[in-house]
Amino acid sequence: MEMAKLCFSLLLLLQLCMQPAASHSTVKFLPGFQGPLPFELETGYVGVGESEEAQLFYYFVKSEKNPKEDPLLLWLTGGPGCSAFSGLAYEIGPVNFNTVEYNGSLPTLRLNPYSWTKEASILFVDSPVGTGFSYARTPHASQTGDFKQVHHLDQFLRKWLMDHPEFISNPFYVGGDSYSGITVPALVQRISNENEEDIKPLINLQGYILGNPRTDMVVEQNSQIPFAHGMGLISNELYELTSGVEKSHILEPHCQFFSPKPRASSRNRRSLNVNEQSQEFLDPEPTFPPIGCRSYGYLLARYWDNDHNVRKALHVRQGGGHTAPEYRPAECYAMFQRWINHDPL
Ligand SMILES: *[C@@H]1O[C@H](CO)[C@@H](O)[C@H](O)[C@H]1NC(C)=O
Repeated sequence: MEMAKLCFSLLLLLQLCMQPAASHSTVKFLPGFQGPLPFELETGYVGVGESEEAQLFYYFVKSEKNPKEDPLLLWLTGGPGCSAFSGLAYEIGPVNFNTVEYNGSLPTLRLNPYSWTKEASILFVDSPVGTGFSYARTPHASQTGDFKQVHHLDQFLRKWLMDHPEFISNPFYVGGDSYSGITVPALVQRISNENEEDIKPLINLQGYILGNPRTDMVVEQNSQIPFAHGMGLISNELYELTSGVEKSHILEPHCQFFSPKPRASSRNRRSLNVNEQSQEFLDPEPTFPPIGCRSYGYLLARYWDNDHNVRKALHVRQGGGHTAPEYRPAECYAMFQRWINHDPL
């Protein structure tokens, strides 16, 4: 067998062998944050799909007020494909990055004084499968779409609640922004239908909340700037100059878009090779935008989330890695030994 094929088979087998069960861990410390976390963080995986072939990663932050009574909010970030971590660290979660110049050291975290977890317990879910630290156990399971995502989230929620029965009776909300404008209403509709069908556990659904939601592309895109102008948010002068405006944050400087997910930013990349497809394979070190740009902070997540100690602290599952024997030497050796001796694998 060719070496490459062997490695690949070993890797696949290793991934199949690592049977994941629903699991969660309490996280008391995070690299880059000084001292023990002053809030309760749990991370874990919930398997969804018929044979749990999609493993969804989540961060659960308990309400800092009265978790027994406070609402439970399931939060989705947009994309589709933006990590739940971006909702946690850049939007409504308990920590933010210290946005200082990156010098090669692990980016550091500080408390977010505006964390919504002061009012509610929040479940941040890496969804759809393939987002953030969520992963698929089969190539088929990695295919996704809006309906499948909604179905998976519904399963996720039910399983998570069964595993955390103390939260079943709390008022329940779904929230999200951006592309979640498509998936959140569909998920809420589904939960509501299932409640009417008396499917257990009954979910104490109270409502949903959306920020800058995607609804209808044409109407939305054509009305953003006229709406902002009409509401007096931008001056006549600025309105006339809208071609240079940062559309997502109209009062901020116009900066290059940057997402830590390399493919999402490929359209803004410069490359000597103009072939679009080959750009997908390029993953150079990103160039930093000026530090006054909001996108500067986004880059820090790339360094933080890719850090080994961070992943360890979050109890993220590490796969076989690219070269399986390097990442899982004991398992690989045991498998090789069986293979070379004609024993059953
Ligand atoms: C980077 O800066 C921080 C202070 O902001 C410092 O603690 C750290 O040692 C620096 N790292 C390097 C590699 O210079």
